[in-house]
Amino acid sequence: TCSAAGRGTVVIGLAADSGCGKTTFMRRLTSVFGGEAEPPRGSNPDSNTLISDAATVICLDDYHSLDRTGRKEKGVTALHPRANDFDLMYRQVKAIKEGRAVEKPIYNHATGLLDPPELIIPPKILVLEGLHPMYDERVRGLLDFSIYLDVSNEVKFAWKIQRDMAERGHSLESIKASIEARKPDFDAYIDPQKQHADAVIEVLPTRLIPDDDEGKVQRVKLIMKEGVKHFAPAYLFDEGSTISWVPCGRKLSCSYPGIKFAYFPDTYFAREVSVLEMDGKFDKLDELIYVESHLRNLSTKYYREVTQQMLKHADFPGSNNGTGLFQTIVGLKIRHLYEQIVAERAASPALAAVA
Ligand code: ADP
Ligand code: G6P
Repeated sequence: TCSAAGRGTVVIGLAADSGCGKTTFMRRLTSVFGGEAEPPRGSNPDSNTLISDAATVICLDDYHSLDRTGRKEKGVTALHPRANDFDLMYRQVKAIKEGRAVEKPIYNHATGLLDPPELIIPPKILVLEGLHPMYDERVRGLLDFSIYLDVSNEVKFAWKIQRDMAERGHSLESIKASIEARKPDFDAYIDPQKQHADAVIEVLPTRLIPDDDEGKVQRVKLIMKEGVKHFAPAYLFDEGSTISWVPCGRKLSCSYPGIKFAYFPDTYFAREVSVLEMDGKFDKLDELIYVESHLRNLSTKYYREVTQQMLKHADFPGSNNGTGLFQTIVGLKIRHLYEQIVAERAASPALAAVA
């Protein structure tokens, strides 16, 4: 058989629209594995790759088959499958999984052109982040774990305004227009991937403030598929129960509008899932230990690890709410998954030799 454990590199897929927090998530993930992720040494400064001791993160934009001009000529967006080379993506990810280095193209975001390729040596963990890690069935079959960041339109819009207006000088109208122009392809090719994800982080408008239109507070759901090998969903208090929890009071400071947690079983695209939900934001991040101590199955290695990770990256976007908390938990889960695969491989050398 060709089980994941029989091969070298463990492959993780992270899908989301651009501007939905993939880069931030990757920084949290590589931090959980220890060590900062950096661009490849002596590389093209426009390389999109990040390398740390444990993991190599590649951006799937590098598999654009049409460059910016090509997309314009053909009238397709970067989200359209026609603008992407899934055959090459499949061949190269498969080669890496089998222990062979590849010459991966580089999509240069500054010029909109394809640059000469860079060498990717098989790492312990390969993360495929981008628009389409779960789109192609063959590539999907190579993933040992997959995550979809599902940022609702309302929140996506608020974040984009924040970034593109403040940092890139775009107008409100142009931001609206660019979101609208991408929407049909987003709905057709990106969004449907979430049904294949092992974990989904959903970011929704808060329910704590009636008719909130500021978008400063979010309700975040961590949707975890049941029955995924090497992945045991985290839970609150009692596994399998339905729980609603307002931790505010003596041990947790909550200013308006407060914090509300929930934990419940659900179905997601006809699959059984467990859901953890957090609405609101933390006032004092060091008090997070109070919440952490009530969560179970976190795959931490020591007391307070979640809180410590969150404090370490307090300056990352989303550190005071469920986006940061759940990204951190998923990072710990991926570390645990990786360690289980390695342990399994060590226990059956015959299987490892198949690679
Ligand atoms: P991507 O890699 O998917 O394009 P980034 O991680 O670079 O996304 O995030 C893009 C921008 O979106 C950030 O600069 C920030 O403004 C905003 N953002 C991302 N994640 C969050 C979050 N959890 N909370 C608030 N804003 C966020
Ligand atoms: C990358 C991003 C896309 C973005 C594109 C810009 O591929 O991942 O999300 O849309 O660049 O494309 P454009 O055709 O506007 O240059």
